[in-house]
Order: sequence, then structure tokens, then C-alpha cells
Amino acid sequence: MKPILVSGIQPTGKLHIGNYLGALKNFVELQNSGKYQCFFFVADLHSLTKEYDPKEKPKQIENLILDFFAAGIDPKKSVTFVQSAIPAHSELAWILNTITPFGELLRMTQFKDKSGAAPQNINAGLFDYPVLMAADIFLYNARFVPVGEDQLQHLELARTLTRKFNSKFGKIFMEPFPVMTEVPRLMSMDDPTHKMSKSRPEGCLFLDDEPDVIRKKITRAVTDSETEVRMDVERKPAISNLMRIYSAMTGKNFMEIEECFKGKGYGEFKKALAEAAVKGLAPFQKKKKELKKHRAALQKIITAGNKKASVIASKKLLTIKRKLGLSAFS
Ligand code: AMP
Ligand code: TRP
Repeated sequence: MKPILVSGIQPTGKLHIGNYLGALKNFVELQNSGKYQCFFFVADLHSLTKEYDPKEKPKQIENLILDFFAAGIDPKKSVTFVQSAIPAHSELAWILNTITPFGELLRMTQFKDKSGAAPQNINAGLFDYPVLMAADIFLYNARFVPVGEDQLQHLELARTLTRKFNSKFGKIFMEPFPVMTEVPRLMSMDDPTHKMSKSRPEGCLFLDDEPDVIRKKITRAVTDSETEVRMDVERKPAISNLMRIYSAMTGKNFMEIEECFKGKGYGEFKKALAEAAVKGLAPFQKKKKELKKHRAALQKIITAGNKKASVIASKKLLTIKRKLGLSAFS
């Protein structure tokens, strides 16, 4: 049997190119390698930990499903589903809560960052977020989890929980390992000291951005001192970040890019980058527009994915409950 690979993305708004280069692009490549049995899902339960409008949520979920398929996730190859349609995720998260050390959750930097960013909404779900994530992974026996760098600490917690659970109740979970891309942390275009994040939309290049918006954003992107286009993360963080995008869009490596823009300065580089991004995102945007016309088909695909995931997850949950001594009267 092929090793299992699971990952999810939260439906919290438009995806940016950091999500794409750090995660979604990798999902598609791993799927197409044929080496894994893949499960990709919309982490809508996770997304409730952030302030939201219930009227917007269905649109956000649908938009992310469209992003998945427009980027190349193929429901014939990968099980694609919506987390909240599978009750086993929440149930297992509760069970895992009872073996998760409080202190381990207190260490999570994402919790600290997110609660610092939204002090008016520090909810228990935000604190518990990595436990639900571990449940997502364990229900499908995932060995590999493609994510960006910001999720590594959560995966480390999942491995801790695997060991804790297995030693207490018998071997049932597998230790999951991250699979990272060459761009596990793309930085913001308006400030290369922060990662590109939906919470700083000014610095994001969104996958849905129109050509003119892309051009405008890239023209405005901050640069470094000097004028040379050179990869130097320490001394030229802004240009190095833009070079990452250029490389991903054109397939050129950093040496080739440096060669190409020798003696040409930032202005010319930015112009070329803007055109490369417009061209690079065009097939995605075209496919997404096309898919939008087929809502009913999309619904059918997701319903089928939910069903497949549900069968696997429910079976695993039952095995877990038996180990815990919970199955006798249920
Ligand atoms: P999220 O939108 O937080 O659910 O993130 C979706 C995926 O994108 C996760 O795997 C993140 O690790 C990844 N990701 C988010 N921001 C970035 C970034 N700036 N660079 C690389 N990967 C990212
Ligand atoms: N926490 C992830 C993020 O913010 C999304 C996610 C939820 C996830 N459950 C997961 C990723 C399970 C991988 C595996 O990006």
C-alpha cells in the first residue's frame, strides 16, 4: 500500500502566493508523483477559531474548493473533502485533548501570535487548534503532511501525541512527518521581516489578483539598498523574496536569474517579475473561472469525497474507542 498523505487549508479568505508556493503547489506535485494516497481537505472547523461572518463562510469554503481544483488537485486521484462533514474529527480531537499536556499547548508560537493579533477573541479553540490538527492526521493514518514552515511545531506536537497515545493504549497511531517545499516561508512584499499572511493583505499577492493589481503590487513591493539583483537572504531579504517568486513562476534557478538581470537594476527585474506572475497565474485563474460554472458537479465531487473520508475516519475512530474502553455500550 502507498504511504498516506494528508493536508488541509483553512477557508479564511483568498489564498496568496505564499499558501500556493508553501503548500498547495506541493499538494499537486505530491499527488501527481503517484507515490502517495492523498487526502486534501478544507479545514473549516479550524477556521472557526478566527472571527468570521456565518454568511461568508459557505463562500469561503466554496472558494477554497475551487482553488484546490484550479491548482490541479484531481478528485480522481485524491480524496477531497470538508472537515466539518466528518464528525470523527471533532470526536477524536476531544479524546486527544485528554492526553495532551496543557504545557505543550502553551508553547505553541502560533497560539501566541494569533492571540496577540486578536486579543478580543482568544478562544479555547485557538488554544486547542493543534489537537484538532493531530486528529485530522491520525484518522487517516497519515505518514506525510505537506505544510509550510509555520505548521512544523504543530506536527511536532502530533508526533508527541502519537508516542503518548501508543505507549498508553497500544500501537495505533503513526508518527507523521512534514513535507516542505523550497519555499516553506514566503515573506510579505511590503515588509520582508514578516511572512506573507492573510492578516497583512497589503503585502500579499493573491492567486485571484487581476493582472493590473499584480503589476501594481509588484511595482510597489519594497526592495533593498544597492541595485543588484542577487540572492542574499541576510543582506537583501526583499529582493531574495521576490527572486523566490520569480523562480517559482519561471522555473529558473537563482543563478540563472542573477545572470539574466546582471547590471539591470530592480526596476527591470520587477517588470519582468510582474509579467512572469501574470503569466504564471493565468492558467489557474482561467481554470477557476471555468470551474465556477459547474457548481453542481463540484458539489457532487465533494459529497463523494466526504463519503470516502467518512468511511475511513469512522472505522479508525471505532478502533480508537475500543482501545479506550468506550465501545461496549455504544
Ligand atoms: P493557512 O491559510 O494558514 O491555512 O495556511 C495554508 C498553508 O499555507 C499552510 O500549509 C501554511 O503553512 C502555508 N503558508 C501560509 N503562509 C505561508 C507563507 N508565507 N509561506 C509559505 N507557506 C505558507
Ligand atoms: N493548521 C493548518 C494551517 O493553518 C491547516 C490544517 C488543519 C492542517 N488540519 C491540518 C494541515 C492537518 C495539515 C494537516 O495551515
